[in-house]
Amino acid sequence: MTTLFAFLHHLSAFTLVSALAIEFALIRSELTVSSARRLQVTDLVLGISAGALFIVGLLRVFLFEKGASYYFHSHAFLTKFSLFIIVGLLSIIPTMEFLSWRGAIKAGQAPVMEANKRKRVTAVIHAELAAVVIILLCAAIMARGGWV
Ligand code: HEM
Repeated sequence: MTTLFAFLHHLSAFTLVSALAIEFALIRSELTVSSARRLQVTDLVLGISAGALFIVGLLRVFLFEKGASYYFHSHAFLTKFSLFIIVGLLSIIPTMEFLSWRGAIKAGQAPVMEANKRKRVTAVIHAELAAVVIILLCAAIMARGGWV
């Protein structure tokens, strides 16, 4: 079970990072009906992988690894967990934008995004990718008993 949950954790984490990278590439190129649709689907995949990561991560904390008391006394884990929550909250901004395109896409039109909005959404996805790098560093540190 420990191995299965470690595998599921890594699978969800890699899926989440891939989805973020795809969103980052798509939002920086010209928006078409098809790229807008792809962004919506990718965002759904991102949401599902984040949900899986959260559940599998908590199961590993409480049931399958070093025990909850170990992790809740680890600054590396607490930083990783807090960053994960912040990334989750930040991701609401692009999600709301992508959802607001439903009408335009249904009508077969490419959504129009003001320059400012596009800049903000791009910056948020960029920040999410940067936060994931720090999360990965925290994961490696906490797994080896560092920064307690
Ligand atoms: C973007 C989000 C996340 C990423 C990229 C990520 C990545 C990783 C990686 C790469 C490891 C393996 C570390 C190693 O063995 O060197 C790991 C371990 C682990 N992660 Fe995550 N993780 C994320 C979110 C979470 C969340 C939300 C939780 C808990 C709620 C969590 C709990 C754990 C636990 C318990 C381990 C096992 C550590 C150990 O071996 O003692 N992770 N994570």
